[in-house]
Amino acid sequence: MSVHVQSSKITTQTIRQKVDAGEKITMLTSYDFTLARLVDEAGIDVLLVGDSASNVVCGNQYTLPITVDEMIFLTKGVVRAAHHAMVVIDMPFGSYQVNKEEAVYNAIRMLKESGCDAVKLEGGEEILPTVKHILQAGIPVCAHLGLTPQSVNQFGSFSLRAKEEAEADKLLHDAVLMAQAGCFAIVLEKIPAALAQKVTQAVLPYHCATIGIGAGNQTSGQVLVLHDMLGLNEGFKPKFLRHFAHLAEEVKGAVENYVHAVEDGSFPNENEQY
Ligand code: KIV
Repeated sequence: MSVHVQSSKITTQTIRQKVDAGEKITMLTSYDFTLARLVDEAGIDVLLVGDSASNVVCGNQYTLPITVDEMIFLTKGVVRAAHHAMVVIDMPFGSYQVNKEEAVYNAIRMLKESGCDAVKLEGGEEILPTVKHILQAGIPVCAHLGLTPQSVNQFGSFSLRAKEEAEADKLLHDAVLMAQAGCFAIVLEKIPAALAQKVTQAVLPYHCATIGIGAGNQTSGQVLVLHDMLGLNEGFKPKFLRHFAHLAEEVKGAVENYVHAVEDGSFPNENEQY
């Protein structure tokens, strides 16, 4: 018996076709079944189980503490919800930096156990042999350049990257290497819009998408952290972020109404009991 991939399911091939056709690619993070199902039904191309789960789900200051097992656990729920979207998992800090053998072992584990479609790794030329090794195992790779939060201790902050010529030149060089190696996409985080446009043009011959976050609108697509764009964390409002909803107010209002209704005895009413 053969099982076919649903024809409407987004794959790396679809992403590359969209790049070639100049169609925008949409990506949002997701960390659980319930929200991932809504995002998938709304027509997103890619669900990214980002290691931002470390912040958003676990409340850590940085992405560094989250583990391979925790990422797999979260991704399983997202995969169950994704009927249309492609699911990409972030390889967490420590899972691919030791050596390329350990990296490919972890990438295989993450793919097999979570059921996701691709992995994402942060870094440029220094991780190229690792990226090639993972690609050779048949695992699609999304690269991530610019602000790479796993290196926050090295950068010292989350500020704009590649403002200076030397860093911009290295980023462009790294992007082309990743595209040539066979990455289907590159996330470009918090870099000048003009540089992101240049990178997008440079990787186009390799049918490689650029997915921007704080990188202007000349990239092949955009990504945001779901909880940020839904306005669930309204204290966080960097320049690049747009709140497409204000769910923090909605959630707090609903909970306040529930508390009052329970306290004054109006919930449950006659129709809400057996
Ligand atoms: O972990 C994450 O959410 C990400 C996005 C910001 C691209 O890497």
